[in-house]
Amino acid sequence: MHKKIQELRSQRWFASDDIRGFAHRQRMQQQGLAREEFMGRPVIGILNTWSDLSPCHAHLRDRAQAIKRGVLQAGGYPLELPAMSLGEVMVKPTTMLYRNFLAMEAEELMRSLPLDGVVLLGGCDKTTPGLVMGATSMDIPALFCPAGAMLNDRYQGQAVGAGTHTKKYWEQYSIGNISQPEWIGLEARMTRAPGTCNTMGTASTMTSIVEAMGLALPGSTSLPAMDAAHTRMAWACGQRIVAMVWDDLRPSRILTRNAFLNGVAAWMALGGSTNAAVHLPAMAGRAGVALTLDDFDIMARQVPVLTNLFPSGNKLMEDFYYAGGLPALLQRIRAHLSLDALTCTGDTLGANIEGHASSDDEVIRPLDNPVIATTSDCPEAGMALAVLHGNLCPDGAVIKPSAATPALLRHTGRALVFDSNAEMLAAVNDPDLDVDENTVLVLRNGGPVGGPGMPEWGNLPIPKKLLKQGIRDIVRLSDSRMSGTHYGTCVLHISPESAVGGPLALLQTGDQIRLDISARTLDVLVSDSELAERRKQWRAPEQPYKRGFTRIYQHEVTQANHGCDFVSLEGAEKTPEPPIY
Ligand code: FES
Ligand code: MG
Repeated sequence: MHKKIQELRSQRWFASDDIRGFAHRQRMQQQGLAREEFMGRPVIGILNTWSDLSPCHAHLRDRAQAIKRGVLQAGGYPLELPAMSLGEVMVKPTTMLYRNFLAMEAEELMRSLPLDGVVLLGGCDKTTPGLVMGATSMDIPALFCPAGAMLNDRYQGQAVGAGTHTKKYWEQYSIGNISQPEWIGLEARMTRAPGTCNTMGTASTMTSIVEAMGLALPGSTSLPAMDAAHTRMAWACGQRIVAMVWDDLRPSRILTRNAFLNGVAAWMALGGSTNAAVHLPAMAGRAGVALTLDDFDIMARQVPVLTNLFPSGNKLMEDFYYAGGLPALLQRIRAHLSLDALTCTGDTLGANIEGHASSDDEVIRPLDNPVIATTSDCPEAGMALAVLHGNLCPDGAVIKPSAATPALLRHTGRALVFDSNAEMLAAVNDPDLDVDENTVLVLRNGGPVGGPGMPEWGNLPIPKKLLKQGIRDIVRLSDSRMSGTHYGTCVLHISPESAVGGPLALLQTGDQIRLDISARTLDVLVSDSELAERRKQWRAPEQPYKRGFTRIYQHEVTQANHGCDFVSLEGAEKTPEPPIY
């Protein structure tokens, strides 16, 4: 299909011979533009999530210039538009509180302005799903241009990764194994260049998934941020989006259920972040595609972790790039993909990955040599995800076995319950804390409503008392999330969350908890009648948010198994185009 000039959406603003059309053209010319520059051409918005407080996106103003060159040379007209910048580490209480905010902003920017297509420029954890959710709801041609991962780094000859090693070294520092000067030195060493985390954290998980779903150019999400090829990729995005506008290649043509399942297969082979279990249902909900936690569990049983990156393995994103990146990985798992899925290239996924192969089987493993060797008594150990159900999580919970301790994946232990993150932090290093290696640490009121925003509190710290005994992992449970760069036997996203009265709210210190990964169950060994008695005493925690965005968020947000989107933003129902007058 090739659109005619009159069919360009921007023509509604610029082509009419009336006072409104006059004003639109006049105001463009006010900026020194000639009529010919923007009239009768695809007008491309570059949604740029750069900010000085988003180090992962520090280079995106430069990349926007490369995208502009590409758009201009392809006959379009580029306009750079700032969109909410969600620097994962800086934004408090959690960027997750603002993912839907960004999605709304992106959607409404597209709707309210004379844009024919958009390049979505970002990559830090929540930015990718936020931008894609907005573009999916607006449904004009959209291409995702990933920020790219930061460079590798080494410390004492060993690969060190953002997030993963911060955690490892913090544990060492907290028990005196690392000196203070060394600790301060690490601050400057561990993230040595702009770009997203160089481990297989949430950023690289989400950008790779979006490429596998067909919304980013082949190979683009594996390019290091600081590689010259990354700038050329941005230029290519500018070229490609103009063609996508003429071809009317909108998200709704790309984002089928099979495209989502391609994303899920990639996630599992990557050993990607548990956060994808929240973002994928949210993105699918915008496309009108049914995608559930069960779909993830089914795929996880079929596709083992093949990407040897932290936190499941021991390499970094730059190594993944050298080994062939995502196209090479997708080639490895092609039997699990819908190769006929249409992508942003105008070609199928199968055509995009044709001829790609792993050049390093240590990094991108063959199917018969996955990252974690599984034994017959714990086949789950090599999986990127397991979805649990039980009387503690009737609507589901998730765990990442490949980043957990296999011996703990079947475990019964006594609960030690904290009602808030602050309470937990104040108590966890108390030398008298009643805890041993069999204890199950529990944090509640950390879910979408309770957090609010479902912060990454789920990787509860190992009590210092246990670290000193050499214990590095125990079972932990919460209705929170965990950073994709982290590791440990952490059951996350317990749904429904405690703040809305999920069974987690009824748990008491001393209760026996049973985790059985093979059965995919998580239960508290307390009778139904006892739980019913406790429910009579339960009161929802008082919320201090009486106004503003957080209040809107708490009223609108869905539970983790549904993706934590807003009720009024879900669904593929079309919003009418705005009147021009
Ligand atoms: Fe931005 Fe990790 S903090 S990707
Ligand atoms: Mg992260």
